[in-house]
Amino acid sequence: MPEIQIPFNKPTRLGKEFDYMRQALERGKISGDGHFTRLCQDLLRRQTGAGSVLLTTSCTHALEMAALLLDIQPGDEVLVPSFTFVSSVNAFVLRGARPVFVDSRPDTMNLDEKRVESLLTPRTKAIVPVHYAGVGCDMDPIMEIANARGIAVIEDNAHGLFGKYRGRNLGSFGDMATQSFHETKNVSCGEGGALLINDPRYAHRAEILREKGTNRAAYFRGQVDKYTWVDVGSSYVPSDLLAAFLYAQLEQASCIQHARRAIWNRYQRELADWATHHDIRLAEIPGDCEQAYHMFYLLLPTLEDRQAFIEHLRQRGILAVFHYVPLHLAPMGQKFGGRRGDCPVVEALSDRLVRLPFYFDLSESEQQRVIDAVRSFQPGGAQGLKNLQYALRAESPARPESGQPQLAKFVDQREVGMDGGDGLAPLLNPADMHVP
Ligand SMILES: Cc1ncc(COP(=O)(O)O)c(C=O)c1O
Repeated sequence: MPEIQIPFNKPTRLGKEFDYMRQALERGKISGDGHFTRLCQDLLRRQTGAGSVLLTTSCTHALEMAALLLDIQPGDEVLVPSFTFVSSVNAFVLRGARPVFVDSRPDTMNLDEKRVESLLTPRTKAIVPVHYAGVGCDMDPIMEIANARGIAVIEDNAHGLFGKYRGRNLGSFGDMATQSFHETKNVSCGEGGALLINDPRYAHRAEILREKGTNRAAYFRGQVDKYTWVDVGSSYVPSDLLAAFLYAQLEQASCIQHARRAIWNRYQRELADWATHHDIRLAEIPGDCEQAYHMFYLLLPTLEDRQAFIEHLRQRGILAVFHYVPLHLAPMGQKFGGRRGDCPVVEALSDRLVRLPFYFDLSESEQQRVIDAVRSFQPGGAQGLKNLQYALRAESPARPESGQPQLAKFVDQREVGMDGGDGLAPLLNPADMHVP
């Protein structure tokens, strides 16, 4: 197997991260809610237009906080896209909710707003639009339906920081929104997230849930003379060391976005003719969306083409990765009644999607290498995949899934694709996972 020279992702590094972490240490406070946490929250509030912002240990935890704040109860229903990361759903399932999976729009892969109304029942408590690849969902009809019925909207904006829909920041539409600062995101601190609160009714309780169910935040503001246990909660507060790292990136966000926009535009420009010629689709950005330049993906004609494409790039030292496996067809999704045919667009497209290397300091020469390698691929052959399957059969007799023919497709995905570190590959054997 050739060595990977161009990874799928490299964490962004701008220069001031360690300096700010040292400053946090010198201030003598590296636990949560210190100087840099406050700086990040203030800046994020200004950058997103959210009512208030709380840094969290991950986007997953911000979603869990949102589910607690909505007081989701067993039997409640929550509309979620099938094509998303498991956390968008799990946060609600943890509270006993039943996920109702919504199919995607074929142009953006976002939850199809036209399908929402027919899936609502008197038990629907929330809708969770996910702005896939940082391209906004069609929020106006979604908000209209939700407002008319008193249903909460939680935007999973893990990909979409700085994206806009009809001139308004993603993350500012729903009652709450969640951000991710995982290392694959445009702005990151390795692992981290934020809860954006637009409906002020949730702000006070959010502080308490995040601080293990105590009114500690009020105590530090001098509003109470001791702090105590007042509600349920958990530990969702990140260290100020991580906030220091994050602040160095947030304050340089326009520099990051500028670089990513240039990389995205170059891929688009250089691959458009090749894609049209080979019946390959590139991402479509609706006219009313300003995307966040989080991801560059292609839709190959078939699964076999997609796998052969990944292998073709890998043979050239380049790591391209697939993305989500439809949640309604995952073992947990099926326990909630998910069946093949429920989400035809997701079922048809998720197998064909592949993401190209995309990171802040991807150099022009590296990108040119990726572009040349992509353009030298001809769909329809799938020979590379056949060779790989043959090689794998010879090389790996002891994989736990071997002998389970129904898993063959996923075994192939695992071996040739990986999920890039932020995707969902439910059948991965961790020992085989090469997280970039
Ligand atoms: C759409 C979506 N939501 C939530 C998450 C979870 O983010 P985190 O890793 O910060 O918990 C991810 C992960 O990448 C994601 O893609």
